[in-house]
Amino acid sequence: MKKLVVFASGSGSNFQAIIDAVKQKKLNVEIAGLITNRDKIGAIDRAIKNRIPFQVVQVSDDELFAKRLAELLHQWQPDLIILAGFLKKIPSEIVSAYPDKIINIHPALLPKFGGKGFYGLRVHKAVLESGDAVTGCTVHFVDNEYDCGQIIEQIEVPVFASDSPESLAKRVLKAEHELLPSVINNLINKTN
Ligand code: GAR
Repeated sequence: MKKLVVFASGSGSNFQAIIDAVKQKKLNVEIAGLITNRDKIGAIDRAIKNRIPFQVVQVSDDELFAKRLAELLHQWQPDLIILAGFLKKIPSEIVSAYPDKIINIHPALLPKFGGKGFYGLRVHKAVLESGDAVTGCTVHFVDNEYDCGQIIEQIEVPVFASDSPESLAKRVLKAEHELLPSVINNLINKTN
């Protein structure tokens, strides 16, 4: 069975969407492990609840951070690496070691509202300030720049005049939970 390793920094609702898709047999993969860069986050609670191995990698030295990630990935041998709300840059050594095997979900229609500093509610605030009537979410391959790799798939989500950043985030997150497992499924089946 193909293996995933998921990276997360927050509540892990996208991680949960993957777990649910596996439980519902919509996704035929093993989640080999979760890597986080913070402790005491929702994503870890979800890993514990679902008996998924996890490791917190809190290392400020860039070289050591890359080394620790490389060790874990070597141990877990993923076919695909999923960044599900992981807010630290993936070291270039890791990007080159796993070509076309690292994907990221972003809460906007890239290339709009992406790049350093565009994460979480900041993205939705910027969308509302722009006056755009449509936003959405994007899954893309990861390269050495924030939110810049090749786009795999997007879902559009309407923006309403009455939206706050929070209400918009909620609507986009719902679309993310659909998009991410579906893209994983397509990629996994492609490489079968
Ligand atoms: C998601 O909206 C994801 O798209 C975003 O962080 C949130 C994590 O939520 N990622 C980025 O902004 C990356 N630039 P979650 O922890 O509930 O899955």
